[in-house]
Amino acid sequence: MLVSARSFAEYRAMFALTDRDLDQRILDCPGGAASFVAEAGRRGIDAVAADREYAVHRVELGLLVERESRFKRELLLQETADFTPSWYADTDDLIRQWTANARLFRADIAARPERYVAGELPELPFPESSFDLVLSSHLVFSYGNRLGEEFQRAALLELARVARREVRLFPLTVYDTGERYPALERLREELAGAGIGSRVERVAYEFQPGDGEMLVLSCAGYRAPPATAPPATAVDPVRWRHREAARPGAVRPGE
Ligand SMILES: C[S@@+](CC[C@H](N)C(=O)[O-])C[C@H]1O[C@@H](n2cnc3c(N)ncnc32)[C@H](O)[C@@H]1O
Repeated sequence: MLVSARSFAEYRAMFALTDRDLDQRILDCPGGAASFVAEAGRRGIDAVAADREYAVHRVELGLLVERESRFKRELLLQETADFTPSWYADTDDLIRQWTANARLFRADIAARPERYVAGELPELPFPESSFDLVLSSHLVFSYGNRLGEEFQRAALLELARVARREVRLFPLTVYDTGERYPALERLREELAGAGIGSRVERVAYEFQPGDGEMLVLSCAGYRAPPATAPPATAVDPVRWRHREAARPGAVRPGE
């Protein structure tokens, strides 16, 4: 699996993020070497990233993304032989952008390590409803044929457990085939049965041709069953802005 490094602008387009969306507590999972959290931090946005690689590589991840450029170029040239990812002029431009984004990631994870939490789906180390909005790009569905339907189901429920309001996922297509994840509708029905509504929305971003759609899960009515309660090691690395804001007389950061 590629560790990619998309930018804040790509996340904004991929997940149709409005200024209002960005004024919430956000989780990016999996964060990879993306610069979303780093660039969000510069804008005063309260965002945290989680990825299983942060348990091992942390700062080195950005460096790895940079150093792997030549290997990645060959791989991407093979994997994207029948299309040009539309956000980028060509594969070299993609490598150039990901390298620049990975540098931002590397500087931020060194400066604000508490914003980057080691966590492996389908079990994240956060209490229920820790984030208002959860963004998940290029893992669930995208690697669906390699990870299996049971993993997708468990991962979706786990992302919904830690989201107070919404989970947004991109893309809905399988990376290897470019086709929509075959069990998508079945999983949506199962989520509906658990109290999680969903809708598919078009967005102004494509990586593979025709993949410009995200899935939005509405989590406000979902309560995870006790069996999937957060593990004893649950962490809350940064302050819970929305909970503080709800307290009488509380002053929100930046106000
Ligand atoms: C293709 S990258 C996407 C990164 C970022 N969202 C982006 O678009 O640039 C996929 C990431 O998923 C992470 N990953 C794979 N399996 C995971 C799991 N079970 N739980 C958490 N992260 C996982 C990998 O370490 C990798 O960083």
